[in-house]
Amino acid sequence: MAERLSLLSLTLSPSPSTPAPTTMAAFSTTASSRILPSATAAAAAASRARLSFSSSLKCLQSSPLVSHLFLNQKRSPMVRVSERGLSSTASPKCAAASDPDQLKSAREDIKKLLDTSFCHPILVRLGWHDAGTYNKNIQEWPQRGGANGSLRFEIELKHAANAGLVNALKLLQPIKEKYSGVTYADLFQLASATAVEEAGGPKIPMKYGRVDVTAPEQCPEEGRLPDAGPPSPADHLRNVFYRMGLNDKEIVALSGAHTLGRSRPERSGWGKPETKYTKDGPGAPGGQSWTVKWLKFDNSYFKDIKERRDEDLLVLPTDAVIFDDPSFKVFAEKYAEDQEAFFKDYAEAHAKLSNLGAKFEPPEGIVINDGPSEPAPEKFVAAKYSSGKSELSETMKQKIRAEYEAVGGSPDKPLPTNYFLNIIIVIGVLAILSSLFGN
Ligand code: HEM
Repeated sequence: MAERLSLLSLTLSPSPSTPAPTTMAAFSTTASSRILPSATAAAAAASRARLSFSSSLKCLQSSPLVSHLFLNQKRSPMVRVSERGLSSTASPKCAAASDPDQLKSAREDIKKLLDTSFCHPILVRLGWHDAGTYNKNIQEWPQRGGANGSLRFEIELKHAANAGLVNALKLLQPIKEKYSGVTYADLFQLASATAVEEAGGPKIPMKYGRVDVTAPEQCPEEGRLPDAGPPSPADHLRNVFYRMGLNDKEIVALSGAHTLGRSRPERSGWGKPETKYTKDGPGAPGGQSWTVKWLKFDNSYFKDIKERRDEDLLVLPTDAVIFDDPSFKVFAEKYAEDQEAFFKDYAEAHAKLSNLGAKFEPPEGIVINDGPSEPAPEKFVAAKYSSGKSELSETMKQKIRAEYEAVGGSPDKPLPTNYFLNIIIVIGVLAILSSLFGN
């Protein structure tokens, strides 16, 4: 319940990149008060949760440095926030997996959000950062990290690599409130895949049913996500992505997600404050994009990195290396030439990323289709209605061959038929007959 309260109390930014409220007064508890049950034990529990949440808020409010977390998201090892943060005590309900009908409805709401907020890039980054903490060398869930919704907890949100993602969480907050039968882990991945598809990218073969972690103690430690400027970018990328169980092809394909979005110096420390491509938005202006049309998912990231055609376009050291490293380069060159190949590999890699470390209920996951729920009509397959193909006997085959050869052909190469000649002959015969019998 406390988690529910905390989410209700978060304030939605007008746009994904719009700075969050400047005072903690924006984190009102009005909405949460409205939903509290009046009597019964539930009321007592809710009220306890509210107290616990408001003490978290007090803790946040009392921190002079907390604005870094909610405003400009600068790196600050000194940020002092409550260990449990906004999600002080999670309800066990959050651990359950998602409801298929609610997943479908949530997807429609995400599409509407995308249409009005242009937040495709930050939603993709949110999904990636929840999943990308996975460590294949750890067996136990949730210690192994991955797509388990842990990124909703303040302690993880304040990791330097996650700067700015609190805005993505706020955007999804009303949808999470509306569909309590959708887990955070699923919502993050649903939002990311929907954003790619709505931006013109490939259809991602997703499944759902991810179970959520329930407490901030279950968050992974800081430092599992990649740095943009490490001393040896290729080695670094391999260390991080191999740890997730991903390979060179997948590293390059997934890097192509930077076809969307911008980097903001006040968040990650990378990129220009604004460029000719970002100064007018859409959404909040500013930042430096990798591509000219940074809300369109296509292969322009690979083309632009290869050509280095404009100083206004961003190339991080980890982007540059995909054309420098001999193994990465094979894929980067291919994707720059062939968008279809990129889309195919990206869709597979994205789906794989979205499943990393996740615990599914049911174990095989839930697939939500686009169309009506009835099964699609079966395609007409002629072979199904014909009786088995019977082989010609050897004698018959030889007879046919002899007949072909007698007229200078072969059964492997049928004789060319001159249809025009046949038609002319038929017309000629008809003309002769009509002149004979006509007289
Ligand atoms: C290969 C290692 C990667 C590094 C070092 C990296 C680094 C970064 C950095 C520094 C930013 C700028 C954040 C900001 O200032 O707001 C960013 C943004 C972004 N990243 Fe990555 N990233 C990597 C891989 C990925 C992957 C695998 C995906 C998705 C599959 C992804 C999706 C995005 C998106 C969509 C944005 C734009 C966010 C926005 O506009 O708000 N990145 N990344």
